[in-house]
Amino acid sequence: MWKIGTVPVENRIIAAPLAGISNPVYRLENRRAGAGLTVSEMISDKALHYRNQRTFDMCAVLEEEHPVSLQLFGGDPETMAEAAEYLSEHTACDVIDINMGCPVPKVLKAHAGCYLLAHPELAVSIARAVVNHTDRPVTVKMRAGWDQSSINAPELARALEDAGISAIAVHGRTRSMLYQGKCNHEWIRMVKEAVRIPVIGNGDLKSPEDVDRMYEDTGCDAVMIGRGLMGRPYLIQELTAHEKGEPYALPSYEERIELCRGFGDRLCAYEGEHTGISMLRGQACAYFEGMPYAAVLRGKLSMMNTRDEFHELLDEYRDTIGK
Ligand SMILES: Cc1cc2nc3c(=O)[nH]c(=O)nc-3n(C[C@H](O)[C@H](O)[C@H](O)COP(=O)(O)O)c2cc1C
Repeated sequence: MWKIGTVPVENRIIAAPLAGISNPVYRLENRRAGAGLTVSEMISDKALHYRNQRTFDMCAVLEEEHPVSLQLFGGDPETMAEAAEYLSEHTACDVIDINMGCPVPKVLKAHAGCYLLAHPELAVSIARAVVNHTDRPVTVKMRAGWDQSSINAPELARALEDAGISAIAVHGRTRSMLYQGKCNHEWIRMVKEAVRIPVIGNGDLKSPEDVDRMYEDTGCDAVMIGRGLMGRPYLIQELTAHEKGEPYALPSYEERIELCRGFGDRLCAYEGEHTGISMLRGQACAYFEGMPYAAVLRGKLSMMNTRDEFHELLDEYRDTIGK
C-alpha cells in the first residue's frame, strides 16, 4: 500500500489515460483485473467551462472503480482552476491529474500537454492554480522534455513538487519522439532523483520483464501502462502474480474471446449500442493479437454495425479456431 497525497493505492500498477478509450467501462476492466489506480482520458478545461454535455459525461465515475483519477488538459490557469473546482464539487474522483505529455497539435494549440514542457513557468502556475482549487491530491503526467536537447523534466518536476503536486508520472520520451524510438529509462531515473514525491514510470511496458527493468533502471515507485493493457487487462494479473513469485497461466484463446465479448457487452450497455459498437470497431481486435486468423477477424470487426453482429463474429471466430 502506498499513497498519492491522502489517497491509498493498494498496489503499484496504474492504468494510463488513453483518449477515446479510458471511459468508466474500460477503467473498470483494469480495476477488476487488479490495477491500483486508473486514469480517465483527458478532459478539456475549456469544454467544461463552456458546459459541453459530452465533456460532463466524460467526468462520470462508477461506484466500483475507486480510486480513480480524472485527467484535465488546458493551458490557462484560470480555466484549469475552474475545471478543478468543477471536478471537486461535481464528481467522485479521488485524484486530479494534469496532462503535460500529450504531443498532438490540437492539444499544443490549446497551450496544453507538451506545450507546458516548453513553458515551465506556465506549467507551474497551472499546477498551483489546480492545487489551490481542489481538496483532491493533484498529480502531473509529463514527458521528459520537448526534444533531446531540452530534457527539463527533473527541474520541472522539482518546481511542480514545490507547487504542491503529489506524484509525477513520466513517459520516457520527448515530444519530438512522439511514439517512436525507445522509452528512455535514464530520463525517468533523473526525475526520481530530483524529487521526494512518488514517481511513476511509463512507456512500452508489455511484460513482467519490462516492468522489472523499469523498476531496476529508474527506482520509480509505481508503473503506468497504456497500450500494453489494450485487449489485455489480464497483464495486470500476470504482473501481480510475478511480483508475488506465483505462477500465472495466460487465458486460453476461448477465454480471450469471452473477455472481449464481456467488455463489448458492458461497453454497449454503458454507451448505448451505436456508440459502443463504434468504439469496439477500434478496440476489439486488440484482444486477439497473435491469435490465428486475427487479421481476417479484424477486418470483419472493423465493419460491424450491431451488437448481434459482434456476437456472431465472435461465435464464428471461436468455431473457426476451435476446429
Ligand atoms: C491512443 C492513445 C491515447 C492516449 N491518450 C492520452 C491521454 O488522454 N492523456 C495522456 O496523458 N496520455 C495519453 N496517451 C499516452 C499514454 O497514456 C502513455 O503515456 C503512452 O502511450 C506511453 O505508454 P505505453 O507505452 O504504456 O502506451 C495516449 C496514448 C495513446 C496510444
